Amino acid sequence: MIPVGALAEIPVGEAVRVLADVPIAVFRVSDDTVYAIDDTCTHQKASLSDGWVEGCAVECPLHASCFDLRTGVPDGPPARTPVRTHQVVVVDGMVYLRVSTGAGQVRAEETEVA
Ligand code: FES
Repeated sequence: MIPVGALAEIPVGEAVRVLADVPIAVFRVSDDTVYAIDDTCTHQKASLSDGWVEGCAVECPLHASCFDLRTGVPDGPPARTPVRTHQVVVVDGMVYLRVSTGAGQVRAEETEVA
């Protein structure tokens, strides 16, 4: 697992970018809910960690497709291809990332808070 940092240092509604095999965006959407998806938009390579979070979705800062943080699926054009989702684990207030090895994975990853 890749250490991301302290949960308390990620403001609710914000994201941090982690460099793994590809850049990954880790979003904190509530006090104890964190999601991770590939950071690069599947449309034209904008950084989704620079987007706007609303509920469990992030709006791409370039052309406004919204990606569901639970599934990686965009709500509509111009992006059509999902981003990968990754598992996030919070242990003793520290956030860890388990990078998915599946290409184009389309399923929700549960946040485990210990
Ligand atoms: S770059 Fe994200 S929707 Fe175009």
